[in-house]
This record gives sequence, C-alpha cells and structure tokens, in this order.
Amino acid sequence: MRIDVLTIFPDYLAPLDLSLPGKARQRGLLDLHVHDLREHTHDRHRTVDDTPYGGGAGMVMRPEPWGEALDAVLQAGTGDSGADAPVLLVPTPSGRPFKQADAERLAHEPWLAFACGRYEGIDQRVIDWATERMRVEEVSLGDFVLNGGEVAALAMIEAVIRLLPGFMGNPESLAEESHGSDGLLEYPVYTKPALWRDHEVPDILLSGDHGRIAAWRKEQARLRTAERRPDLLPPAAEA
Ligand code: ADE
Repeated sequence: MRIDVLTIFPDYLAPLDLSLPGKARQRGLLDLHVHDLREHTHDRHRTVDDTPYGGGAGMVMRPEPWGEALDAVLQAGTGDSGADAPVLLVPTPSGRPFKQADAERLAHEPWLAFACGRYEGIDQRVIDWATERMRVEEVSLGDFVLNGGEVAALAMIEAVIRLLPGFMGNPESLAEESHGSDGLLEYPVYTKPALWRDHEVPDILLSGDHGRIAAWRKEQARLRTAERRPDLLPPAAEA
C-alpha cells in the first residue's frame, strides 16, 4: 500500500519509522511518503495561511500550496501504486466519524493520501476540486478538537496498516478485539501470576473448560459494552 501525507509538520509522522510500522516499511508492505506543504509555497515567508473571507477569528489554509502539492502527489504516485488516484482522507473535527469498518475498507485500497490541515482548516475549494478527481473523505477521530490533522492521520494510518496481510506477527491477535465483528468491546484479559496484590484471576479462566470460558468472555464483553458504550449494543428484542 502507498500512503502519502501532506503536512506543514512532517516530523509529526516520525513515529511511523518505529516498531511495527517501521518494519512494514522495511519489508515493503508500506510505501510511505511524507511531504512538506511549504515546499509548494513561493514567497519568502513560505506562507500557507491567510485571514478568512467573511471575517472571524483564526486563519485558513490557502488553496494554492494544496493544489500544487496534490498535483505533485498525483504525478508521483500514479503508476507506482497501480491506481490513477489515491483515496484522499482529510482529518477534521467536522468530518464524519472514522470507524473500524473504515479502517477495514481502506486496508483494501492500493493508495491513500492524507491532507493534514492546521488552523481553522483548509479552503473548501481544495476539497471541492479534489472531489472532481478522486474519492475524498472528510473524517473525524472523535468529538474533540486537535491542533491539526497530523495526530489524527497517524492514528488512522495505524488503524489501517495493522490490518494489511503480513503486518502482524500473529494475525490471530486481530480476531477478538474491540470493535470487531460482534460489535462489542473486548472482555477483560489476565496473565500470570494468578494472584497479584490480593487480586485473583477469575477462577473460570483457570478451569480449562473452553466452552464456559468462551461464554464468560462473551458475557463480560456484553456487560462492559452495556456500561461503557450502550450505543453499540443491538436494539433489545421487543417482548
Ligand atoms: N483535526 C482536528 N481535530 C480533529 C479530530 N477530532 N479528528 C480529526 N482531525 C482533526
């Protein structure tokens, strides 16, 4: 998979050189390109923002550097990825929520690009122009506001690339996690020692009875989901 990231802070993406993402890059599973948006400015101050039309606080990212940067990405990635355009993800608190199902869907794409905005956002014409040329998705990490799209892009990239075949040492660890196929949060987990600071591991997990263990875990997942995320439970059957 090819991933391009456009940002004024390329260093924010440095963690993708570490750990499993770093290994995935070394092994050629992930072809990551991080681009500095300021390379596509032409004034002495390398300006990327300006005051909003219509007034108001804050600054808006000007369209010209974005247009040039996206042109360059399109040119560089075509051929390489086998696609003629990436799916362009634009992290923004005004986007639709990014879910596990999005990560699963995007993991099948050959080419993704992330446009990381700062300040009050990117001039809307960049999104409108891009929409005429590629699939564009404005997505939010949650109902809170970050300083820019970089941290959100980092999280979304990790959510996607860990699903690539060959990324995980043990792909079975993907099988039973929160937001998986049953839609429930994950059950609590325990390891050795069986007794720690007066806290015991639930007896059932030491019983060796795989059927009862599976039923216990299912019930724990349901209880946890009911308490923390009742919105995830299927609607109760009518009596
Ligand atoms: N940029 C700023 N806040 C964000 C959020 N909550 N999700 C995605 N991108 C963002």
